[in-house]
Amino acid sequence: MQQNRITKLLGIQYAIVQGGMVWVSGHKLVTAVSNAGGLGLLGAGSMYPEVFREHIKKCQQNTDKPFGVNIPLMYPQVEELMQIVLEEGVKIVFTSAGNPKLWTAKLQAHGIIVVHVVSSVKFALKAQEAGVNAVVAEGFEAGGHNGREETTTFTLIPMLKEHLKIPLIAAGGIATGRGVLAAEVLGADGVQIGSRFAVSKESSAHQNFKELMTELQDGSTQLTFKELAPVRIVKNEYYQKLLALYQTHPSIETLKAFYDAAKLKTGIFEGKVADGKLEIGQIVGLLHQIDDVKTIMKNLIEEYQTVKQNLSHDK
Ligand SMILES: Cc1cc2nc3c(=O)[nH]c(=O)nc-3n(C[C@H](O)[C@H](O)[C@H](O)COP(=O)(O)O)c2cc1C
Repeated sequence: MQQNRITKLLGIQYAIVQGGMVWVSGHKLVTAVSNAGGLGLLGAGSMYPEVFREHIKKCQQNTDKPFGVNIPLMYPQVEELMQIVLEEGVKIVFTSAGNPKLWTAKLQAHGIIVVHVVSSVKFALKAQEAGVNAVVAEGFEAGGHNGREETTTFTLIPMLKEHLKIPLIAAGGIATGRGVLAAEVLGADGVQIGSRFAVSKESSAHQNFKELMTELQDGSTQLTFKELAPVRIVKNEYYQKLLALYQTHPSIETLKAFYDAAKLKTGIFEGKVADGKLEIGQIVGLLHQIDDVKTIMKNLIEEYQTVKQNLSHDK
């Protein structure tokens, strides 16, 4: 894998970013990915401000490589999180779920690199206009929150390539070296991977969550809650209850009550996998084992190189 404008921007060896993930990407996962040559991102969305500070400090102790943080801009105490970013000297911030105009210039004034997550050409252009250093373009396949338009990674990346000047990181449905290469062929400068790292030894998700993920197939997840904030989750008992609720034509208030952010912690972190909301991407059907990050990174890079070489030999 060669150096390019993403590896140079982020100061990393491989253009592989581990997506920030609530209840999943704490300091152990982040430092493992950064130490293996990618970019680890702390998932601030599930951390109280002081917990967030502790995780940043642990990352600083456990890696001398670059790492970053993901801050969903709808987080209620976003001001406090940003203050901690400045106080602790964090150098890379990935923002998501909100308006990139609000924080980009303020963070960049402190020398921080800002990358924003988008799900459409329209939002990508807005992010570029807001001055972000790069965008993550996340397709419909991805785990977690997603765009309403259901644009797939395979279509989003080449469309963005046509419009964007800034570097482009592809996300959604990438878990193998082949996937990384495909994203590059479509026009991406790098990839952001979530689900594959959620099912790693270093992920802070509960063992029950990880084991269930290795048993799922294609068709095991669904993008739902489109009226509130579209999110891809596993079709477990919690999801079946949601389906039953939809049959009653619920009001937005009733849906909001059922949506309940605490259900993410229940499922992912506490391991009550029937009862909780389990965010994961469509690519879960390809995740057959719980590997450590070193193995995952090695497999990604080796497969990328082998497939790339074989493709060029065939021609
Ligand atoms: C369990 C889980 C939690 C996630 N939490 C967040 C989050 O807090 N903020 C965010 O921007 N993206 C979040 N995502 C999305 C990932 O950062 C990443 O973009 C996505 O998983 C990529 O698609 P993939 O799952 O197909 O690899 C989450 C994804 C998963 C699977």
